[in-house]
Amino acid sequence: MVQRQPAVEALLHHLQTEIAQLPHLAVPEQQTRPHITLSFAQTIDGSIAARPGAPTRLSGDLSSAFTHSLRATHDAILVGIGTVLADNPRLTTRSWDGPDPRAVILDSSLRTPLDAALFDRSSPGPIILYDQKFDQKTELPFRAEQLNQRGATCLATSVGDLSVVFSTLHEHGIASILVEGGATVITSVLEAHLADYLAITVSPRMLGGFRYAGASAALERPGYHRLGDDLIITGAVLWQ
Ligand SMILES: NC(=O)c1ccc[n+]([C@@H]2O[C@H](COP(=O)([O-])OP(=O)(O)OC[C@H]3O[C@@H](n4cnc5c(N)ncnc54)[C@H](OP(=O)(O)O)[C@@H]3O)[C@@H](O)[C@H]2O)c1
Repeated sequence: MVQRQPAVEALLHHLQTEIAQLPHLAVPEQQTRPHITLSFAQTIDGSIAARPGAPTRLSGDLSSAFTHSLRATHDAILVGIGTVLADNPRLTTRSWDGPDPRAVILDSSLRTPLDAALFDRSSPGPIILYDQKFDQKTELPFRAEQLNQRGATCLATSVGDLSVVFSTLHEHGIASILVEGGATVITSVLEAHLADYLAITVSPRMLGGFRYAGASAALERPGYHRLGDDLIITGAVLWQ
């Protein structure tokens, strides 16, 4: 049993209340994609890692627990294959007492290693979205079969088009998804204007490291919450 943290619980409650009030969530039957929360950790100079492919811990213990609490309140968590190869994450809620979300990996050419840590989870295996245009002419169907035998569900789709990605996930029963990174995926989501809510952990340091590219947006009713030494900035996204 993980020790509960009142400050994290209060922030999670605040976010859940805010997210439930988002206008597009009011009519669930009209939704064609999941609710999308974008959440990652960055330094004050906008770095999300020291350099590409370098695992870099940016969050303190409390903000890590907060991230895990967010995971527990979404149906799925999405990262790109770059993050799987760099960090070998398990994408679980290990520092929060809650269910693990389904892991979703964007991985055009099925580079996910068969011994990736995300297969060591008690919850259903990951959904791996790969590029359908390779499906007929390469060895990918064989690779997909190998990954499926490890517990994955490999789906061929237009993985470069996030609208298609999210509607495919919605068709597979995912109503809410937490997008965590890395830089390329964050950039794609921002460029496609496909985040409903943001929860960014800002660590009080600079790295001059690996950054995402932004988009023009503002936060509605922004929240500034301190957890340990970190600042968590939250709000509904207003695209501009
Ligand atoms: N600070 C944080 O909160 C945080 C969180 C997560 C990761 N990270 C860091 O981020 C770094 C990894 O970032 P990264 O940019 O190299 O990799 P990434 O964003 O995790 O994955 C990018 C890859 O995903 C695949 N992809 C498939 N469809 C895509 C789509 N529609 N949009 C975007 N990508 C798509 C592409 O590879 P294919 O063409 O092969 O499919 C692409 O190169 C690591 O250093 C990791 O530690 C930091």
